[in-house]
Amino acid sequence: MTNTEKQILRHCEYAIEADQLTKRFGDFVAVDQVSFGVRPGEVYGWLGPNGAGKTTTIRMLLGLLKPSGGQAAVLGYDPARQTKAMQARVGYMSQLFTLYNDLTARENIRFYGQAYGLSRGDLRQRQAEILAMAGLTGREDTLTANLSGGWKQRLALGCAIVHRPRVVFLDEPTAGVDPISRREFWSLIYSMAEQGVTVMVTTHYMDEAELCQRVGFISQGRLIALDTPARLKETQMRGQVLEISTASADQAMRVLKAAQAGGRLLLDEVALYGAQVHAVVPSAEAFREPILALLQAEGIQVQAIEWIAPTLEDVFISAVKPRG
Ligand SMILES: Nc1ncnc2c1ncn2[C@@H]1O[C@H](COP(=O)(O)OP(=O)(O)O)[C@@H](O)[C@H]1O
Ligand SMILES: [Mg+2]
Repeated sequence: MTNTEKQILRHCEYAIEADQLTKRFGDFVAVDQVSFGVRPGEVYGWLGPNGAGKTTTIRMLLGLLKPSGGQAAVLGYDPARQTKAMQARVGYMSQLFTLYNDLTARENIRFYGQAYGLSRGDLRQRQAEILAMAGLTGREDTLTANLSGGWKQRLALGCAIVHRPRVVFLDEPTAGVDPISRREFWSLIYSMAEQGVTVMVTTHYMDEAELCQRVGFISQGRLIALDTPARLKETQMRGQVLEISTASADQAMRVLKAAQAGGRLLLDEVALYGAQVHAVVPSAEAFREPILALLQAEGIQVQAIEWIAPTLEDVFISAVKPRG
């Protein structure tokens, strides 16, 4: 970190700040008066369904899109006006991050390093650090095309941070990568954060959202909740979750939805989570038996029906629903 950067950081509590940040495309409001702050070294999750406005927010913070309203600051810089100075200190791995498949791992790092103007000596050091970080030592001369998804992902991250940025934006960095590689990728995120790098990451994997220190929920351009995963579960969840394990999950869903629609059961929400059904009810204790009886009456064999702590996905669904 240069002295100027230290000076700037000393003056701002937040590494990333959005104040009423807004983006309109014609009449359509893609990001609607969003305000939040991310502290230095924090891992901040930016969550929402497709089209919620996640990428648009990040593009404004990166200075790639001009806000229609409000303000942003990244490391104390205004992305819209101090774009170059800010971008030199920020890393970005986009949804469609592409490496050069016809270059080797080492050559890709060199390419990005040169683009960021690293000196030869510095570049040599960064190459070694990034290859080690990505677990690519021994594979440095493999063509990128021949690396598996997990390797490519880690190499892409390495290229995005070749210039030692203080803030990193990751937009769905693990989409389409296998679970083990995703876990490895998250341990890389945390090792960056431990070194003081601020990370803002979008994901639609809820297990990854649980790993963020704080999470902002965005829906239809609006920030609807922002807190630690644990606090979100305490404050944003209306009702309790019953998890139903059955081999006939689809049929159970149909039965419960019909009962909900017919007003026979006061169900807040029914959703399928992998092979299990989650029913959100006012009281797990009071609803456990009636739900079991209803399913059994329809000939559905239930292995288990248990009151469980809500997942962030349960909380998200609950928070998105208009409050009545
Ligand atoms: N350049 C653009 N022109 C018009 N609409 C856009 C543009 N970019 C994004 N949008 C719209 O803004 C909304 C938010 O998009 P985006 O930020 O990409 O969502 P997310 O990343 O959460 O999936 C979407 O409805 C999308 O179609
Ligand atoms: Mg997106």
